[in-house]
Amino acid sequence: MKISVIGCGYLGAVHAASMAKLGHDVVAVDVDPVRIERLAAGDAPFFEPGLPEILTEALASGRLRFTTDTAEVAGARVHFLAVGTPQGPTGAADVTYVDAAVAGLVPHLSDGDFVVGKSTVPVGTAARLAAEVTAVVPGATLVWNPEFLREGFAVRDTISPDRLVYGVPSGPAGQAAVAALDEVYAATLADGTPRLVVDLATAELVKVSANAFLATKISFINAMAEIAEVVGADVTALADAIGHDERIGRKFLNAGLGFGGGCLPKDIRAFRARATELGVGESLDFLADVDAINLRRRAHVVTLAQELLGDVLAGKRVGVLGLAFKPNSDDVRDSPALDIADRLRELGATVSAYDPQANGTAARVRPELDYVGSVDAAVQDADLVLVLTEWTEFRQLDPTAVASLVRDRVVIDGRNVLDRDAWTAAGFTVRGMGR
Ligand code: UDX
Repeated sequence: MKISVIGCGYLGAVHAASMAKLGHDVVAVDVDPVRIERLAAGDAPFFEPGLPEILTEALASGRLRFTTDTAEVAGARVHFLAVGTPQGPTGAADVTYVDAAVAGLVPHLSDGDFVVGKSTVPVGTAARLAAEVTAVVPGATLVWNPEFLREGFAVRDTISPDRLVYGVPSGPAGQAAVAALDEVYAATLADGTPRLVVDLATAELVKVSANAFLATKISFINAMAEIAEVVGADVTALADAIGHDERIGRKFLNAGLGFGGGCLPKDIRAFRARATELGVGESLDFLADVDAINLRRRAHVVTLAQELLGDVLAGKRVGVLGLAFKPNSDDVRDSPALDIADRLRELGATVSAYDPQANGTAARVRPELDYVGSVDAAVQDADLVLVLTEWTEFRQLDPTAVASLVRDRVVIDGRNVLDRDAWTAAGFTVRGMGR
């Protein structure tokens, strides 16, 4: 099928390459010429396992091309909208880029084309955009097909997602849209991926409610961590025990520094803002607590670091391991790790930070920190070591080797991933989260 993808950020670049991998003929558009040039050369603009390989393969096959000229989408039958919806000043989602993408796309649409929204938008946006599209091109149809990909697993989540959700209008236009999307995802559906057909508003809500639920699950276990810290209980053992109940499940019950990244924090705030606009703000009041619990974890680690360093941070050396918001990513958007590293620096500590992938992205937004190229350099002469992102490299560290480099054997395990017995045996004071 001939497909276009508007927006080549995280979502769009992965989607475009994945659609080509599925055998489609794809043209991908972005307003940023530097990004387009890199992608056209097979150079992924962010770290995502598997993306460079499918990008190179798709470019070599001739089935994928990148352009800054939206006019080149003419001739494609399905047009995916994959632009960002960042957090605006009030917490509500900023849909400027989605509006601009649709406005830029409409002049190149033909009757029988499908515009398929993938971006995370406030509920009601799709109906508004659908009217804008059909006002100009009555035979085109706008549908919503939310994306649930996780960074670090983005290619796999695109090609083999847990489920496909199609939000379509009722009637023949909706039926035609379902048939078109089934053609796009033929290989994925043949693998047995469940596919749910719903209305536009439900499709928009599925996405934000999924992220709200995941955020709530993480904040729930972090609230338990706060209580466990007071009573001397172990939140990890607690999570294992409640997680055996199939109704609860063990996934997303890892206590630690809480959630960050480009989606969960902004999506829960945007969802609340939208509910308030709709007059049902009360329904999502609990998300304010979810957000507050989450942010308290960062403050807790800073306080713990101060306690362990004897309150005065000036002149103290702190080794920070991890800056990305999660492992297998170079993304530092709303990263708890980077936030904590920077707060410790602000309080006067000399912070040496190392992340296997995110030093560069972190340095762009927090140039004041001292970035080093290895664990050894980060922990050298440290009075305190903090593990803030659970990279495998840090999980597998030899505590004896670290012990030989530091000034003081004290470690904060911000993600509860270190082998406490081994670190204690190496002479370390180990402070975990909620244990
Ligand atoms: C998330 C959703 O999972 C995905 O479906 C959606 O499309 C986009 O947002 P992502 O931002 O890539 O994906 O990260 P995710 O793996 O969900 O982790 C989010 C944050 O939660 C990370 O900071 C992670 O460290 C944290 N987390 C996750 C926990 O603190 N504890 C857990 O148990 C799980």
